[in-house]
Amino acid sequence: MKYLIGLDVGTSAVKALLLSGEGAVVGSHTAEYPLYSPQPGWSEQEPEDMWRASAEAVRGLLAKYSISAEDVAGVGLSGQMHSSVFLDENYQVIRRAILWNDVRTSAQCRFIEATVAADVLREEVCNPVLEGFTLPKVLWLKDNEPENYARLRWLVLPKDYVRFRLTGELAMEVSDAAGMLMMNVREQVWSKPVLEPLGVDPEILPPIIGSSDVGGTITAEAAAATGLKPGTPVVGGGADNACGAVGSGVVVPGRGMVSIGTSGVILAHLAAPKIVTEGTVHMFNSCVPDEFYMMGVNLSSGLSLSWLRKRLGLEEVPYDVITKAAEAVPPGSRGLVFLPYLSGERTPHGDANARGTFVGLSATHDQGEMIRAVMEGVAFGFRDSVELLRSAGWNGTSLRALGGGARSPLWKKIIASVTGLTLDEINIDEGPALGAAILAGVGTGIYGDVREASDSIIKVVRSVEPDEEWGKVYAEIYQVYRDLYPALKPSFDRLAKFA
Ligand code: XUL
Repeated sequence: MKYLIGLDVGTSAVKALLLSGEGAVVGSHTAEYPLYSPQPGWSEQEPEDMWRASAEAVRGLLAKYSISAEDVAGVGLSGQMHSSVFLDENYQVIRRAILWNDVRTSAQCRFIEATVAADVLREEVCNPVLEGFTLPKVLWLKDNEPENYARLRWLVLPKDYVRFRLTGELAMEVSDAAGMLMMNVREQVWSKPVLEPLGVDPEILPPIIGSSDVGGTITAEAAAATGLKPGTPVVGGGADNACGAVGSGVVVPGRGMVSIGTSGVILAHLAAPKIVTEGTVHMFNSCVPDEFYMMGVNLSSGLSLSWLRKRLGLEEVPYDVITKAAEAVPPGSRGLVFLPYLSGERTPHGDANARGTFVGLSATHDQGEMIRAVMEGVAFGFRDSVELLRSAGWNGTSLRALGGGARSPLWKKIIASVTGLTLDEINIDEGPALGAAILAGVGTGIYGDVREASDSIIKVVRSVEPDEEWGKVYAEIYQVYRDLYPALKPSFDRLAKFA
């Protein structure tokens, strides 16, 4: 029997997933690593930790399921998007990686907008300029750590750094490269018209490879660290959201997905590129060759609930017990509304200064109401993205649900009722690691093409419909939610300097 491994280099851990050649998930193994926040709004990780955890996750996986390295046909990579790994000429890490949810780069974003004409940006990189993307991080390094910038020879993303450690090859996979704001998304080449006026040398960027291309093979050194066999092919893979789409069957134009991880994502697959200038909608290359997806991203979706759990001193309490307390609360949380902008927000506001807020607190509100208000606030954030994708032409009626938050039946019912969409549960909810393993299967010839493989492995098994009565309440409260950000924006800006 042949096996495939999908490796997802996430924000808190690396997950290694084992998929059989027949498309059955055997199991997974996870290795965690720390996240550093040296200042408010900063978010960093050690690339060495990403590599150490990747090796540990693979080793643990092979041991747990007694798999011989001979039987692993290929490895596919997935990972957190946008985060910068800076390497010097000897391929040594220069400083900690600056992550996708780090919002220190507002000044650099404004500089990009002032330096590169808006139509060039739109035509080339096809995306808004946002703090979390990679290009502003390079400019931040130049402005703030010139001695580190002087050493910068290569820039890679987390999963592509792990590829380098596995194979010795520097290569950037296309769906992830799209999120750097440095690639011409339509042509799939590094964008000189964007990089040159900013003084960024395109030579720091490795060659771009396709999601199911073999981008190298396991070296002897990596074999010793992971337990894999030298020569095992390592396939391009994809950005975690692009791989999440492959791993949930969202590979057909019109299909959509909601992912509730640390961040929250509403994503719709597209046959052709679509540039949306409103509301910071992102548009990237998908893992289906020459196809695309658009998405709205909320920075603190699952994070909002984990933050509240921690702050309420309930860290040891499992999430299903936490959300049980919210089940008894009526929709609308007795007049309590939560804005989930704990780390600023991308979609729809593109505002690094926005902050999380409870509005309507009274002395009678208890834990259950706060928990439910947080779950509802996250759902209102999703509705903002759904509205934007709809006005960009998406006319789907359902979303496939994935991520840790999608395990909560209550959260799914709230999201369905807030958005008016059916939430589909899939047979295998393993997220990006599954997508990466499927891509490994396509790249090594075990499966046909990406669409065919994903569609034959992933099926909808159950659906959660919107609740009509809840929907009426939410329609009213959503309007309140919509009014809150513009009303609070001046206060967020005035508070920013005290953070
Ligand atoms: C997407 C984004 C996040 C990360 C999470 O643009 O920044 O969803 O990919 O890992």
